[in-house]
Amino acid sequence: MARVFCFRMICMLDDIAKASSDFDAALANANDSHALDDLRIHYFGRKGGLIPAFFSRLKEVPKEQKKEAGDALNKLRDRLESELKEKSERVAAEEARRKEARSIIDVTLPARAPRLGHLHPVTIVRREVEQIFREMSYTIDPGPEIESDWYNFEALNFTPDHPARDTQDTFFVDVNRLLRTHTSNAQIRAMERWKPPVKVLSAGRVFRRDEITMRRSPMFHQAEGFIVDKGIHIGHLRATLEHVVHRLFGADSKMRMRPSFFPFTEPSAEVDMSCVFCKGTGCGTCSQTGWMEILGCGMIHPQVLRNVGIDPEEWSGFAFGMGLDRVAMLKFDIPNIRTLFENDLRVLQQF
Ligand code: PHE
Repeated sequence: MARVFCFRMICMLDDIAKASSDFDAALANANDSHALDDLRIHYFGRKGGLIPAFFSRLKEVPKEQKKEAGDALNKLRDRLESELKEKSERVAAEEARRKEARSIIDVTLPARAPRLGHLHPVTIVRREVEQIFREMSYTIDPGPEIESDWYNFEALNFTPDHPARDTQDTFFVDVNRLLRTHTSNAQIRAMERWKPPVKVLSAGRVFRRDEITMRRSPMFHQAEGFIVDKGIHIGHLRATLEHVVHRLFGADSKMRMRPSFFPFTEPSAEVDMSCVFCKGTGCGTCSQTGWMEILGCGMIHPQVLRNVGIDPEEWSGFAFGMGLDRVAMLKFDIPNIRTLFENDLRVLQQF
């Protein structure tokens, strides 16, 4: 019972016993590699670790008792070392397994499809119309959107005081230039460029100072088609338009020609399609008429031919200007023209 008299010795053996039981509790709570590292540092750290500190204290224990204290300390160190090692290995293996499980790729999951772009309904119609005319060997030739008064009005036989020239209808860029109000400028440009016989289809944007309504918008799209050759008469015009309408809307679709007026055609007509929304009975979209106007047309006025140096005694032609937005509305059941210009993806993705 020599220990009783050795204060340092008792104290040290007690401290070793306490360190031993503290370790058991701490080890039970250390469940990941960080906690285990902390524990290792707490017991074995070179600076301030409990085990090295015990070994330093051993110097102060009286010689004859050193063995007992040293044995206890060695036992503690060996046990702690092996238990730390054993648990660290177990935890590391578990952590590696969990990490791998997280990185596994399930190749059987259905893939998320990449989002594809969609053609705008007006683009679909424009391309379709261009294709129909390409098949009839028309030249596809878009004209400029910014135009002079000559090409948009004067050469097309608009008198200087014609109401369409009014600032109420036309957007002017400056005194000499304006945004074309129709694609008919393409007729003049093409007839200046190519000698007859000539067949051209020209589609693009046009601009008018119109209020926005169900059917009208300040910017819309037209496709202008015209032909100049020998012996062209109104029967060619009618047959061509019927062909186009049947291609666009099916062979049983109905169209009608109404007499009308344009300064650059004589005679002139407008073509209506039976309204697809009400099937001809009358609705808000067709202003209760049962018909929707899709184009203006006529035989090219002799004065227009003369304006571009073509002899109207020798040559004749027809021309038409089709509203592509109207056609898109009819074809795709879109009752409001604004739907075409709002760029709502929920709408556009349907085409
Ligand atoms: N340019 C006319 C319009 O915008 C349509 C048209 C074109 C009429 C060609 C006759 C001939 O209303």
